[in-house]
Amino acid sequence: KSALNPEQFLAFLGYMGLSIFAYVLSYWMIPKIAKLTEKADIFGYDINKKGTDAGKIKIPESLGIVPATIYLIFNIIGILFTRAYMPDLIMSHISGLLAITFIVFLGFADDVLDLAWRYKLLLPPIASLPVIVAYTGGTQIVLPQLIRPYLGQTIDLGPIYYLYMIMLSTFQSNAINIYAGVNGLEVGQSIIIALSIAIYNVIEISTQQQHLFSLMIIVPYISSALALYNYNRYPSKVFVGDVFCYWSGMTFAVAAVLGHFSKTLMLFCIPQLINFLYSLPQLFGIIPCPRHRLPRYDEKTGLLYPIKTNLTLINLMLLIKGPTSEKNLCRVLLSFQILSSFQQQPLVRKMVKSQVEL
Ligand code: UD1
Ligand code: MG
Repeated sequence: KSALNPEQFLAFLGYMGLSIFAYVLSYWMIPKIAKLTEKADIFGYDINKKGTDAGKIKIPESLGIVPATIYLIFNIIGILFTRAYMPDLIMSHISGLLAITFIVFLGFADDVLDLAWRYKLLLPPIASLPVIVAYTGGTQIVLPQLIRPYLGQTIDLGPIYYLYMIMLSTFQSNAINIYAGVNGLEVGQSIIIALSIAIYNVIEISTQQQHLFSLMIIVPYISSALALYNYNRYPSKVFVGDVFCYWSGMTFAVAAVLGHFSKTLMLFCIPQLINFLYSLPQLFGIIPCPRHRLPRYDEKTGLLYPIKTNLTLINLMLLIKGPTSEKNLCRVLLSFQILSSFQQQPLVRKMVKSQVEL
């Protein structure tokens, strides 16, 4: 089925317009709620400023709860659109919405209770349950070119597909959460991934209805997260909390699974993959894993220096580029994110391919 007749297009434009409202509302609410979280003792110390001990700067924490809640309102309103134009997808929409709602609740609980890693890992699988029980779409995945001569174009994973969905949401949520600790990085990387998902859907929209649906899931995310970025970018006025990372990861997983392009989503997340693989020795406890794996801040120069035993892409980038300011480090890391996501877009891939053929 191809998507978008003129009537649908207008209704969709209306929904996009509504997403701008999500931005305005989030932008207005975040500073107000920030006062309340700080009063409720939900705050963090800005570690890369004056170090952990001396001259600590207190920043209100967990402000991801604001755009996430506003996003949910708009996602619920979006059900009207699905009901009118894509009734076959109504079950997908409601179950995806339920999973995102569930993870926002669990993420905020994690921020307040500061759960240990072994429990954190369980949150995305639990929150994925609504999608797992309600999913009735195909369980095939498209195989890479290389192995197609042997196994064919697609392979039906059957029940393993459900395991694959759980792993995707778990990876997405945690991979964003552990690629963090520099002002603006959590929201910045997430917005770039979300934009990549949106652009991909727009390019593919004429092929299948699912891309329109996926676009509906992701656009209000982009607008509400952008409002948070305004306050979280260097120098942070608020911190986003684990609730933000989980909300983002689950939203991406829902948009990709129900839009049928989960492999492409993984390709948008090359920096997260590198950071995750590089982190493995610490995640498995082979090398000790401190509470924070950040670089070292030097008060004399005001720059960040790599700590070699903290195996994150943040430290690796500092090793490659040399010491730099927190603001510039975030800029470099986000540029890398843009580059790696951008080169996965179908249009760019086609261009590169035809260049190679020439
Ligand atoms: C993950 C990382 C941890 C990293 C932390 C930073 C792993 C296994 N865990 O833990 O290494 O230090 O994220 O978010 O890789 N903070 C800053 N500046 C920022 C963002 C955060 O100083 O720009 C500090 C603040 O004290 C904030 C705290 O990090 O309160 C938030 O940490 P939290 O999200 O609870 O850490 P984890 O997700 O458990
Ligand atoms: Mg975190």
